[in-house]
Amino acid sequence: MSRSLAALTAVVALALPGLAAAQNCEATITSNDAMQFDTKEMVIDKSCENYTVTLKHVGKLPVNAMGHNWVLTTAENFDGVMREGMAAGVANGYLKPNDDRVIAATDLIGGGEETQVTFDPKLLQEGTDYVFFCSFPGHSSIMKGTLKLGS
Ligand code: CO
Repeated sequence: MSRSLAALTAVVALALPGLAAAQNCEATITSNDAMQFDTKEMVIDKSCENYTVTLKHVGKLPVNAMGHNWVLTTAENFDGVMREGMAAGVANGYLKPNDDRVIAATDLIGGGEETQVTFDPKLLQEGTDYVFFCSFPGHSSIMKGTLKLGS
């Protein structure tokens, strides 16, 4: 191995942990006018200091017809958060205000829009089942997935 290649290898090895952390501490979820998320399972690296979810709505329908958000709660609390969110109405983004069962949630967006939420993975526990879903009325029957804390 040449001296310059060895030096390059050392630089890459130093840079990789930083790159890996940046890549693993964020996720982009796409949603559409067919009432779908493009992912059903998420694993959050417990070593992340913060985790950022970007939600994109690639459809064309407005928020009052095909609104989407990304809401994180436990599997246990899902039903209550969903039902009380529906009752809270569109003005509250279909979430009960200050609902402490909600671990993280984006704004409700319409077609062509994008939104983000950042939260602390320390709010999650290993071995607990979490779900992410869209709280727009009726959407969580399809727009729902599992999330867990991993390594
Ligand atoms: Co939705």
